[in-house]
Amino acid sequence: MNAPRAAVILAAGRGERMKSALPKVLHKVGGKPLLDWIGDLARDSGCMRTVVVISPRAPEVRAHLEKRGATLALQEEPLGTAHAARSAEAALRDFSGDVVVLLNDTPLIRPETVDALFKARDDADLVLLAFEAADPTGYGRLVRTGDGQVEAIVEHRDATAEQRQITLCNSGVMAADRALLFDLLSQVRNDNAKGEYYITDIVALARAAGKRVRYAVAAEAELMGVNSRAELAEAEAAFQQRMRARVLDQGVTLIAPDTVFFAHDTAIEQDVTIEPHVVFGPGVHVGAGAIIHAYCHITEATIGAQSEIGPFARLRPGARLSAHVKIGNFVEVKNATFGEGAKASHLAYVGDASVGARANLGAGAITCNYDGFDKFNTVIGEGAFIGSDTALIAPVSVGAGAFTAAGSVITKDVAANALAVARGRQAEIPGWADQFRARKAAEKAKK
Ligand code: UD1
Ligand code: MG
Repeated sequence: MNAPRAAVILAAGRGERMKSALPKVLHKVGGKPLLDWIGDLARDSGCMRTVVVISPRAPEVRAHLEKRGATLALQEEPLGTAHAARSAEAALRDFSGDVVVLLNDTPLIRPETVDALFKARDDADLVLLAFEAADPTGYGRLVRTGDGQVEAIVEHRDATAEQRQITLCNSGVMAADRALLFDLLSQVRNDNAKGEYYITDIVALARAAGKRVRYAVAAEAELMGVNSRAELAEAEAAFQQRMRARVLDQGVTLIAPDTVFFAHDTAIEQDVTIEPHVVFGPGVHVGAGAIIHAYCHITEATIGAQSEIGPFARLRPGARLSAHVKIGNFVEVKNATFGEGAKASHLAYVGDASVGARANLGAGAITCNYDGFDKFNTVIGEGAFIGSDTALIAPVSVGAGAFTAAGSVITKDVAANALAVARGRQAEIPGWADQFRARKAAEKAKK
């Protein structure tokens, strides 16, 4: 059986346990909002349609989803997960096939796991994903029958002391044929500890109707839910562990893996070496054989093959480095391209610039790109040599092969292969120091 697939994502809860002005669904793991993790999961597990249930009280969430082009359904009041799922019914009325319900706060589920759950529908009417929790507090528990089916899910608050001993927990992911799912949801009542409509009650309702309910198990690190800041930190840690393992497996050397932090989309080619304490924000690509020394911070940047970065370098959005580039200690690069073999080895700021191949920026070279209102570009030609402590007042260009003298303030374009000197000439007064000291000593003696 290979029924068409759709997803309903529940994202209308209050997220009170986060204690945040920001809706829970916009908090991030690996630099990506929870909402996008689940949206991507739905797409990558073969769902042809996705409906996201949101609250009318969270306009930021709506704005975020509208940018992604998602189909939205409103849950007027947060009356529980079953009530939320029912809010998607109208949007899926014309859909025939299987529907998976995804909670918005389980960011680490892999598409393969959801795909396997859909396939498990061959043997059951309702299927769900469960995990063995190290600490099951707060999760719904699976009450099983002898034949391996699920009898009911009991929420933590409603569980007896005996049921609380159960460590097999509900992840919140469930799939069934659309018609059956919404039929079961329509029967859920709210006579429980929280007075909410629990989606988990559809398990017992399905069993009462003689339906087969089965579950599949995946790791807790994949299925854990994020309800508090502590759980958000745990999810982040689990994500980082997964990324480190993946990157190592792809042939990257991490000298101290636990000190390197990745984003959801960090792409690192083979034979890259990453030293301790490096942080990647989103949108980074590192070419083969590059080395990233300790203590670098890199976001929305491309690093060419065999390049050398840091220690203590900062690559900000729009840094585009070709192969064999060197960005040394205390160098910051923003919205700037570096041609092959170009270097800024120490203490420089390069922003809104293009640096030609093999050009060399000396220590303390600065592009002055901002006047408090607008940004201006600097163009440095191939093989140019920017002397130490040169201030390049943009907009300005330095021609290919040209030099700027150390300490120059360059305000006019420099022709190719010229030397630009823009600093006070050095004057010298012979013997001045001796005369100065003698005068000062005489003044002191008088006092
Ligand atoms: C839920 C499950 C629990 C499971 C756990 C897994 C229920 C009743 N309980 O508990 O069995 O072990 O997830 O992480 O389903 N939401 C709405 N509208 C609402 C209420 C919630 O859209 O009225 C959304 C929330 O935004 C959230 C999701 O549903 O993304 C789950 O709600 P949450 O309050 O986090 O449920 P849990 O207590 O974690
Ligand atoms: Mg939750």
